[in-house]
This record gives sequence, C-alpha cells and structure tokens, in this order.
Amino acid sequence: MKIAIGSDHGGFDMKEIVTAFLRDLGHEVEDAGCYSRDSVDYPVIADKVCKLVQEGICLQGILICGTGIGVSIAANRHRNIRAALCHEAYTARMSRQHNNANILCFGGRVLGIEIALDVVGTWVETAFEGGRHQRRIDMFS
Ligand code: RB5
Repeated sequence: MKIAIGSDHGGFDMKEIVTAFLRDLGHEVEDAGCYSRDSVDYPVIADKVCKLVQEGICLQGILICGTGIGVSIAANRHRNIRAALCHEAYTARMSRQHNNANILCFGGRVLGIEIALDVVGTWVETAFEGGRHQRRIDMFS
C-alpha cells in the first residue's frame, strides 16, 4: 500500500522510525516532511499529507506532531479526510473497522517507540467493515 507520512519538528524523530518500519513491512511511503528537527508549522504538513490522500496518490496517511492533537484538528478540516488520533492499538483498530479512518495521528512526544509501532502496524493492517458504518460516514460526508 502507498502511505503518505508527515510530521512537524515534534514528531520528526518518530516519523523517521515509522517510515523505516513501514518500508520494512513492504509499504511504499511518500514522505511529505518535515526533513529536519527545525521548527515548522504542523498545518502545512497536514495539508500536504491530506492532499496526497484526497488525490488518491496515497491510500492512507500518517501524521505525527508533538501531541498528535494539532495535526488531527488540522487534518479533519479537509473534505473526505477522516483523521483519528490514536495512542493505543484498540482505538487504532476501531478507527479502521468502524470509521474508515484514512489518516492516523499520534503524538511523537506521547508514545514510546514500541507502542507507536504497535499502533501503526495495527492501523495499516486493519480493514474497514463497511455496512452500517458506511451509512454513518455518509451522513457527514
Ligand atoms: C510543537 O511544539 C507542538 O505544539 C506541536 O508539535 C503539536 O503538539 C501541536 O499540537
């Protein structure tokens, strides 16, 4: 699967680790930045990742900032983007099964590496269940 990834400076180190993890799993990763620990504005990065998903260049996206909150708020302002802020595997799985989340957000300053990779691995491997969940998504799309 082709996955877009982006972070601000608060998520930069984690983005590098998650990118390598996804590539090891065989996914193609489009890195929308940032590309150093220098301070950047998270809405700019959220815009880039959302655009890659909206245009179908990437099927799903991952956004990481310090807390995950800024990128999730910014991403959810984009049409047809369903961004889920998840800090453990249960909500990551449910965000795919029930909400068909197409962007995963989390905080690079919140999670340790092992939990973060558990969240990411669960999220990319879980399918949407459709049915009544699609009806509910259609209500706000
Ligand atoms: C940057 O210091 C921090 O505010 C940002 O990464 C994020 O946590 C915002 O929600």
